[in-house]
Amino acid sequence: MARLIFLGPPGAGKGTQASLLAQHCEIPHISTGEILRAAVAHQTELGVKAQGYMDRGELVPDQLIVDLVHERLLQPDAASGWILDGFPRTVSQAKFLDELLESIGQSYDCVINLDVPDETLVKRLLSRGRADDNEDVILNRLHVYREQTAPLIDFYSDRQQLRSIDGNQTVDQVTAALKQIVQA
Ligand code: AP5
Repeated sequence: MARLIFLGPPGAGKGTQASLLAQHCEIPHISTGEILRAAVAHQTELGVKAQGYMDRGELVPDQLIVDLVHERLLQPDAASGWILDGFPRTVSQAKFLDELLESIGQSYDCVINLDVPDETLVKRLLSRGRADDNEDVILNRLHVYREQTAPLIDFYSDRQQLRSIDGNQTVDQVTAALKQIVQA
C-alpha cells in the first residue's frame, strides 16, 4: 500500500509519473488538474466556476478543491492507497489535508518533489500545447507555483517527509527512482 503526494512545478512530470506509478502499485492516481479539466469539458457547476482561473494559470479557490478531494478520498478505491498529484498546492490546502486524513484514519507515506529547471519546464509545456500551455499562461503558472506552492517544500521538509528527485532525466529514469522510494 502506498499513499503519496506529488509536488513539483508545472511540467515537472507529476502527471506522467503519477500515472505510471499508480498502475505499478495498483492504486488510484488522483489529479486535481484532471478532475477540473473534466469538469470544464462537461461544463459542470464546478467546471464553470474553475475555468477562468485555469485559463489564466491561477489556482482555483481552495473551497472548490477541498470538497472535491474530500469526496474523492472517500471513494472505496482510495481505501487501499493513492497518489495525489497537484494537491495540496498551498499551505492552507496542506493543513486541510492533514485534518482530512486524520478524520478518516489515514496518513501519507511521503511527499515526492520533482525537481526540474525552469527552461526545461517551459520547453516541455510549449511542446505539449494544452489549453493552458501558451507562453504567458505558463509564466504565470510558474510564478504562482513559486509564490504559493514552493513553500510546501519547506513545510514538508521541516517534517522530514520530503523526498526530492531529479526530474530532469528521461521518463524511465525518473520512474526507476520513484520505484526505489516506494519499494524501500
Ligand atoms: P495541473 O493539471 O495540476 O497542472 P500543473 O501543475 O501546471 O502541471 P502540468 O500538468 O502542466 O505538469 P505535470 O507536472 O503534471 O507534468 P506532465 O507529466 O503533464 O493544474 C492545472 C490547473 O488546475 C492549475 O493551473 C490550477 O488552475 C488548477 N488546479 C489544479 N490543482 C489545483 C489545486 N490543488 N488548487 C488550486 N488549483 C488547482 O508533463 C508535462 C509534459 O512534459 C508532457 O508533455 C510530458 O509528456 C512531458 N514530460 C514529462 N516527463 C518528462 C521527462 N522526464 N522528459 C521529457 N518530457 C517529459
